[in-house]
Amino acid sequence: MTDNDPAVYSGVHTGALRAGEWVALTDAKGHRKSLLLQAGKVFHTTKGGLAHDDIIGRPEGIVVTTAGGLQYLVFRPLLDEYMVSMPREAAVIYPKDAAQILMKADIFPGARVLEAGVGSGAMSLALLRAIGPTGRLHSYERRPEFAEVALANVEQFVTGTHPAWTVTIGDLVDVVADEQVDRAILDMLAPWDCVDVVGDVLVPGGILCCYVASTTQMGRVSDAIRAHGGFTEPKLSETMIRDWHAEGLAIRPAHGTTAHTGFLVITRRLAPGVEAPLRKRRPAPGAYGPDYQGPIPRNVRAEHLEANRRRSEELG
Ligand SMILES: C[S@@+](CC[C@H](N)C(=O)[O-])C[C@H]1O[C@@H](n2cnc3c(N)ncnc32)[C@H](O)[C@@H]1O
Repeated sequence: MTDNDPAVYSGVHTGALRAGEWVALTDAKGHRKSLLLQAGKVFHTTKGGLAHDDIIGRPEGIVVTTAGGLQYLVFRPLLDEYMVSMPREAAVIYPKDAAQILMKADIFPGARVLEAGVGSGAMSLALLRAIGPTGRLHSYERRPEFAEVALANVEQFVTGTHPAWTVTIGDLVDVVADEQVDRAILDMLAPWDCVDVVGDVLVPGGILCCYVASTTQMGRVSDAIRAHGGFTEPKLSETMIRDWHAEGLAIRPAHGTTAHTGFLVITRRLAPGVEAPLRKRRPAPGAYGPDYQGPIPRNVRAEHLEANRRRSEELG
């Protein structure tokens, strides 16, 4: 294996479990605990201890039993499990949304990707897995203490420094590097502030994906993208996943399904100087009424805007 072999930096390990690795212990009720394997140590539970040496050197997928008879399944944690269990300072992008981002933003091996903010590093991990060691992920985070947590989380998962990853501390708008990128992922409170700088570095045909938690953010960033003029009409989506329970005749949605997490706003960069064909449609009633504070997209004609405002006032 060479250093450019994607498996080296994937965070996936195979073979016998080794000291220094993290494992997930899952009991019969599905409760999970993380354990850093250390030779000679004992893991204490309410039902007696479990020697780490009973795990080290053995394969994944074994069952170990504490002195008091409590049984645990032992596996190495998968990336999606690690993303939601690792230490966090800021909210993470959930695996269901990260998976959508990788596909909809068309992240590929060798891609040059810009990301802001880093937060706890969950999305960074998913991006690094997809671009591999020959790609480049330049992540920006304005809070150094968050970046520190993200660096530790990524280093722990990939066991070392990832050669494709650079983290710059600062506000993206102030510190963005003068380098072209193929893809840009924004996960922050105010992505509309960053549309111009992303537009400057994104290659023609490149993809901008914004992950936002609320409908008001989704609307505002969409309007900022339209007002910029150098992007395609944004596509908006939300992903719902419903877990299921199937046991004999009892087949039903599982309890505790994840509810709303966030929305994706996806758009592509046009070539320099090109403007997307205007969509000849009057804005939806009330869209740009007196309460609207954001930028007015260039396809909204002045007379339509005036009529839209009058109509909103009539409707009260
Ligand atoms: C929700 S967290 C990102 C979580 C991250 N995507 C993950 O999956 O772990 C948002 C982060 O963006 C950072 N941030 C907000 N605006 C920023 C900007 N303009 N430039 C750089 N970082 C920014 C915040 O400090 C925060 O850490």
